[in-house]
Amino acid sequence: MAPSLVQACRSLALSTWLLSFCFVHLLCLDFTVAEKEEWYTAFVNITYAEPAPEAGGAELRTEKSECGRYGEHSPKQDARGEVVMASSAHDRLACDPSTKFAAPTQGRSWIALIPKGNCTYRDKIRNAFLQNASAVVIFNVGSNTNETITMPHAGVEDIVAIMIPEPKGKEIVSLLERNITVTMYITIGTRNLQKYVSRTSVVFVSISFIVLMIISLAWLVFYYIQRFRYANARDRNQWRLGDAAKKAISKLQVRTIKKGDKVKRTASSLG
Ligand SMILES: *[C@@H]1O[C@H](CO)[C@@H](O)[C@H](O)[C@H]1NC(C)=O
Ligand SMILES: *[C@@H]1O[C@H](CO)[C@@H](O)[C@H](O)[C@H]1NC(C)=O
Ligand SMILES: *[C@@H]1O[C@H](CO)[C@@H](O)[C@H](O)[C@H]1NC(C)=O
Ligand SMILES: *[C@@H]1O[C@H](CO)[C@@H](O)[C@H](O)[C@H]1NC(C)=O
Ligand SMILES: *[C@@H]1O[C@H](CO)[C@@H](O)[C@H](O)[C@H]1NC(C)=O
Repeated sequence: MAPSLVQACRSLALSTWLLSFCFVHLLCLDFTVAEKEEWYTAFVNITYAEPAPEAGGAELRTEKSECGRYGEHSPKQDARGEVVMASSAHDRLACDPSTKFAAPTQGRSWIALIPKGNCTYRDKIRNAFLQNASAVVIFNVGSNTNETITMPHAGVEDIVAIMIPEPKGKEIVSLLERNITVTMYITIGTRNLQKYVSRTSVVFVSISFIVLMIISLAWLVFYYIQRFRYANARDRNQWRLGDAAKKAISKLQVRTIKKGDKVKRTASSLG
């Protein structure tokens, strides 16, 4: 009873050790090597007058959705203004610092609408900022999904910059191409915290995990071999003792004792 209890305790201790070991690893992964990224969504409200010739005037349309995403280095602030694109179609990407925007007359705030591509977000944002835009809206091109990313644009950090999905961008472009004045209101949405793990840290943690696993397995194997050898040695010992006893017994002379025989001591070899 007692030895099996000891054994149970030992294996319990061993599995506890392995478990805590895995746990420490997970903690490691969570706190030291995982990187955090914080990003903010933006509410995008567009308001425009849809011409309605049959009614003899225009119909005011307004729509608002939380589809934008603030750039990494953008101030997380509200912004508003008339939406404009580059004056000429071949400058739409706004990669050239001399790009002219179809900005309204002096004094009215405007927002630059620029498609993604051909140069960095930073260049596009800077080019609009240098021409006094009050915000920059960049839309995705070529994905046709509602995806947006947190744009990096270190160095141009004094202007609100957001990214909107491609369908929304195309919708506004088509309105502007019909010479409709679109006013945009950008307001701050919700804060998001995203954790991600870099590849190098995954490799590091996996390797250290495997190494420690091998060490503990080796220890386990060693422990069982040791136990096996001990058990074996004990068996052999018992077998040897038994053998000696048999030999000793075989040396005894067996004699049938008849009535009247004198019994002599012969089992002297048993000592
Ligand atoms: C968009 O903003 C304007 C001005 O603040 C407001 O009048 C309009 O109701 C808003 N549209 C929506 C859908 O919230
Ligand atoms: C953008 O880059 C592509 C490929 O480099 C080029 O073919 C295209 O003309 C460029 N667009 C503009 C507007 O410069
Ligand atoms: C931007 O605004 C400043 C002052 O508000 C003005 O001096 C400058 O000419 C403006 N630049 C452009 C490109 O309109
Ligand atoms: C994008 O979002 C709009 C509005 O939320 C939705 O109507 C549309 O189906 C979405 N498109 C895709 C490709 O998910
Ligand atoms: C928009 O305005 C420009 C000049 O202001 C004009 O050349 C163009 O034809 C107009 N487009 C539409 C669709 O009315």
